[in-house]
Amino acid sequence: MIENEAALIEAARGAAQHAYAPYSDYQVGAALLFDDGAIITGSNVENASYGLALCAETVAVARAMGEGRRGGLQAVAVIGPDGKGDGAPITPCGRCRQVLNEVAQLGPSDPLILCVGRDEVRRVRLSELLPHAFGPANLA
Ligand code: THU
Repeated sequence: MIENEAALIEAARGAAQHAYAPYSDYQVGAALLFDDGAIITGSNVENASYGLALCAETVAVARAMGEGRRGGLQAVAVIGPDGKGDGAPITPCGRCRQVLNEVAQLGPSDPLILCVGRDEVRRVRLSELLPHAFGPANLA
């Protein structure tokens, strides 16, 4: 449990409104909370060449690292569109787990991932989603 969980979830919900998802019509928002209190968001960005879609979590990590952040990742909220699927919380895709792991290992931290569903927030650690991860620590 983190103190400003509600604010983090609202930031992810707001980010989903900026999703560019004309092909899947599946808008995703992600919000990263850093240990200095900063929240950095991302939304999915699709492409006419479908396979080039960027997930919300990956965009958020790129934005954070692009402004110089290296580690300090405390928590992540991820939310999908309301009214799609069964309303169950969505978890980051496999590629996004690895992308999140990069900034997490630099911390080092094991961020709490808040997977936001219609009626439920599932709280899991990144290490549960990506056990035995390969990361920058292996190359040091
Ligand atoms: N998507 C994300 O943004 N994050 C995930 O963790 C799962 C999938 C996006 C990719 C694509 O634009 C759309 O959702 C449908 O797969």
